Amino acid sequence: MTSITLYFILFLNSLLFLPIYADSISPFASNCGEILSGESGAISYKPFEQFRAGERCVWVIRVPHAVSYNVVLYNSGMGSRGYNKVIVTALSRDKAEVHTDLSLIDRNYFIDGSVAIVTFYAYEAASSTGAGFSLYYEAAVLSENNHVSPYSFDYVISSNAAEMRHPAVGGSYSHNELSTFVFTPNFLWVNNQRLTVNVTVLGMEQNCDDMITVYYLPDSSYKASWRKVGRICGFENRVMLSNTGVILLVFQSDESLENNGFQLTYYST
Ligand SMILES: *[C@@H]1O[C@H](CO)[C@@H](O)[C@H](O)[C@H]1NC(C)=O
Repeated sequence: MTSITLYFILFLNSLLFLPIYADSISPFASNCGEILSGESGAISYKPFEQFRAGERCVWVIRVPHAVSYNVVLYNSGMGSRGYNKVIVTALSRDKAEVHTDLSLIDRNYFIDGSVAIVTFYAYEAASSTGAGFSLYYEAAVLSENNHVSPYSFDYVISSNAAEMRHPAVGGSYSHNELSTFVFTPNFLWVNNQRLTVNVTVLGMEQNCDDMITVYYLPDSSYKASWRKVGRICGFENRVMLSNTGVILLVFQSDESLENNGFQLTYYST
């Protein structure tokens, strides 16, 4: 381990009052779209380096058995005016989602969910660009009773078109799933962009015990935030979703009955 890494860990420990561990931070994500599953880790995206207008980077933190996380933003060049932001979305099977803007450096944000979606949203005008950010996370509470299926999946799709089904291998989805699907073409918002996701239900419980929740991010907005658009339940056959910005789908199932899931056909212009 380099001494810089060590100082860095000591620094983080002084923020979080953690016991000091000798291992280096792992995983460490610097590319958009990564999924992190280590009990602690960091996301560092273009710190001290200028990002592009319209960037839409998304990461997923999913630590097995995690119930909540501590997140510290330790570096940010995004400015404080609300044009550029990092939003952490806490997802749980048994609680409503919570979106938290990380605005203050060196403050501990408690993220109350089993899965955390981290969204970097850059305003579209070049005049509001700045430098990126770095954050450190650790699973705050781990519990065997977090009741999230190990067969849950996370997909961050950055292409312009995709066709996928869930479960991917066919068959039935599992009990207590919490799976995520993010559509963010090229991790970049461009003028006149439109994303379409057609959801075809192959088989889901007929009531809303198993469901897909839909969230939209605005195209270009001051103080942007995720908007919950609604749910897709088993009695729907086919739903067409369309948004000018990023789309997030969260699939969750309960502890009874399993079915064939759904198919997603996605296209962005
Ligand atoms: C979604 O469905 C609509 C209506 O059937 C169709 O016009 C459109 O091309 C479909 N989009 C994709 C991405 O499959």
